[in-house]
Order: sequence, then structure tokens, then C-alpha cells
Amino acid sequence: MPIKHQLDVALGERSYPIYIGRDLLGQTQLIRQHIHGSSALVVSNTTVAPLYLARIQQSLASCEIRHDELILEDGEQYKTLAATESIIDLLLRKRHDRRSTIIALGGGVVGDVAGFAASIYQRGVNFIQVPTTLLSQVDSSVGGKTGVNHPLGKNMIGAFYQPQCVIADIGSFDTLPARELAAGLAEVIKYGLIYDADFFGWLEQHIDGLLAGDSELLAQAVLISCQIKARVVEQDERESGLRAILNLGHTFGHAIEAVMGYGNWLHGEAVAAGMMMAIDLSIRHGWIDEQLRARSSALLQRAALPTAPPVEMTPQQFLEAMAIDKKNVGGRIKLVLLRELGSACITDEYDHDKLLQTLAA
Ligand code: NAD
Ligand code: GLY
Repeated sequence: MPIKHQLDVALGERSYPIYIGRDLLGQTQLIRQHIHGSSALVVSNTTVAPLYLARIQQSLASCEIRHDELILEDGEQYKTLAATESIIDLLLRKRHDRRSTIIALGGGVVGDVAGFAASIYQRGVNFIQVPTTLLSQVDSSVGGKTGVNHPLGKNMIGAFYQPQCVIADIGSFDTLPARELAAGLAEVIKYGLIYDADFFGWLEQHIDGLLAGDSELLAQAVLISCQIKARVVEQDERESGLRAILNLGHTFGHAIEAVMGYGNWLHGEAVAAGMMMAIDLSIRHGWIDEQLRARSSALLQRAALPTAPPVEMTPQQFLEAMAIDKKNVGGRIKLVLLRELGSACITDEYDHDKLLQTLAA
């Protein structure tokens, strides 16, 4: 590589490119062309900064961008308003103006918090996503959802705010723990289930190579995932309808994350179990058959992902946590369910008794 693939998220004046390749962090011109002022703040965390911050700093120094750094604590439990405030504090103390650029270097947590800070600092400054996990490269860095958690609900505070570009360096997977790579694969598998039956088949064929860290396969998986996400976001940037299909398994998954305590189940793990629950409910309605359950379960298991929720979680706990979901309207829980492999729907027209059966199963 370096740039192996490039694609655009076409959103009119908010359009931006996604670069996918290896050794992109050290590509000075790549980052330089998306910084419009003369200063930047790099936001990272205590795990990622020791690994990759120096490369970004070198790039910024060599193109004479004044830059500061803020290193957040690592973990979903730090995806908070307090972390956002710490970014704002530093921007003010270091006299960053409206032409400053925030660079998010890390996984989805760093990207969501830093993007949210960018959306509100002086009513909005530019930001660049440099996602370093598989999950953040295929999902959270693309599409402009930014935000933080509230103790009562995940991602309950946030903004739609698109980045200037996404720099997805798949070389960063070299240091990614296997459990995190697998969690990212949950979102990759999601794209096959909701949008692209052929991609699902490709994943069945290549899951072992992906888990083994094959660069070509990983770059291809990131590309196809980003293409699908971009196509969905282009049609429905602010989630008035279609975009919600990207949340397959997430209503159940967010409940698992909240009830089990943020950070105990990884987001991708909770989504994997949640997708199997959505599949169970879809089968109970007769929309899909047992064969798809078997294929999905086998694929998730091969990726070392959970296929069932934590045994200790009760239906009541699920219902309470699921009641706090941004998709809900008028107190009715909306769910993303499957109509067939590669096709999802967002609906509140499911049978509540069947939902209770899924939760109890
Ligand atoms: P994460 O940001 O917590 O990263 C996972 C772990 O990997 C962390 O410990 C992190 O420090 C570490 N890490 C990151 N890059 C590394 C690397 N290259 N080498 C070694 N360690 C590395 O989690 P995530 O899975 O990237 O993202 C999950 C978050 O993204 C959740 O908060 C979820 O809600 C959010 N999300 C947002 C969107 C969106 O559209 N905005 C979509 C999906 C998920
Ligand atoms: N991850 C869901 C979305 O971006 O809409």
C-alpha cells in the first residue's frame, strides 16, 4: 500500500474522503491537505498514544502545524461529558481558535468524544478521524455520529457532525488485541446481514484470514463496510429512516452494555449477541428461516463472538434498558429486524409477546 483504497462519503458540502491503506499515519501531505488553519489538537488515549501519537506529531511538525495533545483515560466508561469538557478546557487554555482542527486518534470512544467536542467548540471546528480499531474504521469514524454516554443510556448526548476526512491505517491492527479485532468483525458481519448477502458469503469464506490479520483481506473488509455505510448515510444522514438499519442488534446490545456496566462487554460483543436476538425475533415472525440463524451463529462463533446475551440478564432488565433508545417514539421500542439475508427493516410492528419470548429464550 500506502493508500490502497479511497472512497467518498457524498454529502454535498459536507462530503469527505475515506483513505484506507497501510502506513498512512506518517503521510504528512495526507493529513496536511485536510487541515485548513495553522493549529491542531490531537485527542488520543493512554493506550493508543504511546503507539501512534509520535507519527502524527511528526507529520504535523513537518508541515508546521502548531499542535497540542490531550490524552484521555482508556475505556467506554470515560466516554462522558467530563471527557468532552477536558477537551474544551484544553482548547481554551491553549488558545485554539475556530480554525483549529481536532484530530481523533484512537478507537470509537476517542472518535465519538473528540468529534462531539469538535461539534460544540466555538459552535464547531473541523475534525479528522484517525480510527485505530477495526470497529472504528468500519463504523464509528464514518457517518458523523458523535457523542457521549449518560449513566442512564448510551450515546444519549451527541451531535451529527461530519469529519473532514477519515484516515484508516490498517497497520494499526498490528497492535490491536484479538478480542478487539473480533469485536470489530461483529459490525462487519452486520453489514452483510443488513445489506449485502454476497458480502456475508465472502465473510464466511475469509473469516479465518481476517482473524489471522491478512492485510489484503482486512483492507477489503474495511472498504466494503465503508462503502455500505457511506451509501446508507448518503441516503439518510440524520437517521429519519433507513440509517437505523445500521443498528441491527444494537437495541439489545446497548441494553447489555448498560446493564453489565460499560466496558465489561465490548460494544461489538454486545452487538453480536444482540444480532442473534434480532434474528431470533425475526424467525418468530416467520420472516427468515432457521438456516440463517445457523449461518449467522456459525460465523459469529468462528469470529470468537458471543451468540447469546449474558445468562444473568432478565427480560425486565432488557425492557427497562431498551426503553431508553433514540429510535423509540412515543414510548414504543423500535427494532431493526431481518426480512431476508441482506435486507433489514426498522419496525415497531412486531408482536410484543414474541419479543418477550426472545428475551426469555
Ligand atoms: P475503543 O475505542 O474502546 O477501543 C477498543 C480498545 O482498543 C481500547 O482499549 C483502545 O484503547 C484500544 N486500541 C485502540 N486502537 C488500538 C490499537 N491500534 N492497538 C492497540 N489497542 C488499541 O472501542 P471501539 O470498539 O473502537 O469503539 C467502540 C465505541 O464506538 C463505542 O463507544 C460505541 O458506542 C462507538 N460507536 C460509535 C459509532 C458511531 O457511529 N459514532 C458506531 C459504532 C460504535
Ligand atoms: N453505527 C450506526 C450509525 O452510524 O448510524
